[in-house]
Amino acid sequence: MEDIPPEDLLSRRRFLSDSGRLLVMISSFSTLACSCTEENEKGNRLAELAIEQGRIVLDLNESRYHALNTLGNGLKIVITRQESPLIITRVSETQVAAFSSQCTHAGYEVLLPDQGVLACSSGHGGAFDLEGRVLTGPPKNNLPSYPTQLIANRVHIAYPLG
Ligand code: FES
Repeated sequence: MEDIPPEDLLSRRRFLSDSGRLLVMISSFSTLACSCTEENEKGNRLAELAIEQGRIVLDLNESRYHALNTLGNGLKIVITRQESPLIITRVSETQVAAFSSQCTHAGYEVLLPDQGVLACSSGHGGAFDLEGRVLTGPPKNNLPSYPTQLIANRVHIAYPLG
């Protein structure tokens, strides 16, 4: 897949979202493997993201989204290089959650879940639960979240695509 210069990514995003496909980077890891940032970065890859009626749709039957078939797991989607990745987590049999990975304390990136806890990468001690709610400070506010639905093993995310 071709490299996309950062300045081109947003315009391509608009074009592709109009046409129903969006280029993104996806990283996903099992609960046991998600605590290492280096491994997360190695796992990033460009992929196409389906857009249906203005919503991001992840088909959990696709191998790239298999992590979300296991409770407690999560994955990240990099929609543009200017925005923090979106984190999607499997909360229960019937529920997924989607929220920003940008910590509400000082903006560091929040890591993927490990045993139900998403630690902030800053080392300040902040941590969030599988729905992006503050577990431990210093963050005072939950991570900004986006409405999701799980329908027929497909995740629908109401994310503002610009
Ligand atoms: S930036 Fe996340 S705890 Fe400080």
